[in-house]
Amino acid sequence: MTDNKALSGIRILDMTHVQAGPTSSQLMGFLGADVIKLESPVGDATRGQLRDIPDADSLYFTMLNCNKRSITVNLKNEKGKEIFTKLIESCDVVMENFGPGVLDRLGFGWENVQQINPRIIMASIKGFGTEGPYAAFKAYENVAQAMGGAMSTSGFFDGAPVVTGAQIGDSGTGVHLMAGILAALLQRERTGRGQYVECAMMDCVMNLVRVKWRDHQRLTRGPLPEYWHQEFEEFTPRAGNDSGGGQLGNAIQCKPGGPNDYLYIVVQEHVWQALAKRVGGDELVSDPRFAKIEDRRANQGEMWDLLTEFASTYTKRELMEILNEIDVPCGPIMSTTDLANDEHVKLREMYLELDHPERGKWYNLGCPIKLSDSPVEVTRSPLLGEHTDEILGDVLGYDTNAIDDLKEAGAFSRPPRRK
Ligand SMILES: CC(C)(COP(=O)(O)OP(=O)(O)OC[C@H]1O[C@@H](n2cnc3c(N)ncnc32)[C@H](O)[C@@H]1OP(=O)(O)O)[C@@H](O)C(=O)NCCC(=O)NCCS
Repeated sequence: MTDNKALSGIRILDMTHVQAGPTSSQLMGFLGADVIKLESPVGDATRGQLRDIPDADSLYFTMLNCNKRSITVNLKNEKGKEIFTKLIESCDVVMENFGPGVLDRLGFGWENVQQINPRIIMASIKGFGTEGPYAAFKAYENVAQAMGGAMSTSGFFDGAPVVTGAQIGDSGTGVHLMAGILAALLQRERTGRGQYVECAMMDCVMNLVRVKWRDHQRLTRGPLPEYWHQEFEEFTPRAGNDSGGGQLGNAIQCKPGGPNDYLYIVVQEHVWQALAKRVGGDELVSDPRFAKIEDRRANQGEMWDLLTEFASTYTKRELMEILNEIDVPCGPIMSTTDLANDEHVKLREMYLELDHPERGKWYNLGCPIKLSDSPVEVTRSPLLGEHTDEILGDVLGYDTNAIDDLKEAGAFSRPPRRK
């Protein structure tokens, strides 16, 4: 972790928990930062959530906390506060995603942290930020999706709002936070000062549904022709699987008709003729219902029906091959099993086998950010408090006797002895 990586030399005090923060600090760890995960003596709640193996850290935890060291510190204990203060003095970044007011109650709000170390960058995720009518509320992924406009714009036009599988409220906010931290580190190069970086989950979800705001404003000028089957009100409606961009697109069912036997096809304007020829010969090429993009928009339903009929004799992979030959952008709907066995995914190191002392072999996703001079080595998540002594000794300079005294005073608890 300390060799020559993009973020080598950057030490992060990672107080984040659950998903939104840990995904951000894990990315920083992938890029080479020394991430010290500071947990309460009982640990991040996700260690025990959705457990698949009794007494082992859950996959929820292990998949979000690789490339980190773990220290437990009781921040409600005076000696624990002393350790925390020393850690703030020794780190470049402190990250947290506690509920509103938690750090102030502990005596470590931004003003105090900055006083302890003016060079430190403090990065916070909150559901709704630190000010405004919603500031006092807690938030989880789906709350952010609900309040950031993702749910009202996902699902089918005649169905209920739908949560997306992509964790845009948690992981999406984590990626935003990392961008903010990196920018603050660069600014510190010039100013010598740290600063406070804040990402609200609601803001980040709004940012990720940006194109729906394009449609929100277009609606004031009339209906949105690329949305299939719509009656419009004054808000951006749910678009089902409609493309949402300038090109028409949809998920087309293939054989044998299973839940993921679909190919997403984008009917890019300049591939229409080749696609029409392959699907319905010269007759379809000259069919006036689909002659121009406006005609295809207006007669979308019939166009999707024709493509569905054509697709019914092919699997999604066969159809993908046919369409790739004529340069039609398309992609099979990949199940998690499809992806876990996919050669491309393996080659990109996006699904990696790791070992863990409690759970044995398991898999984590790799780092999606590829740097040519900073290759990523994914290392397993730490056990609770696994590196407490190491960090107290190597980073803070406590000797063995002092560490024992701190433990005696209730500053931390050593992890239970493992069988
Ligand atoms: C996720 C969330 C809803 C969880 O709420 P929660 O379980 O009630 O936890 P909170 O963060 O509010 O509080 C944590 C408590 O643990 C305590 N704690 C945390 N670390 C500690 C430590 N090292 N030592 C002692 N106590 C500690 C805090 O002091 C706080 O106690 P308090 O309520 O007495 O002040 C909330 O943290 C939140 O809204 N976070 C911001 C939004 C977010 O990131 N959500 C995404 C989650 S994926």
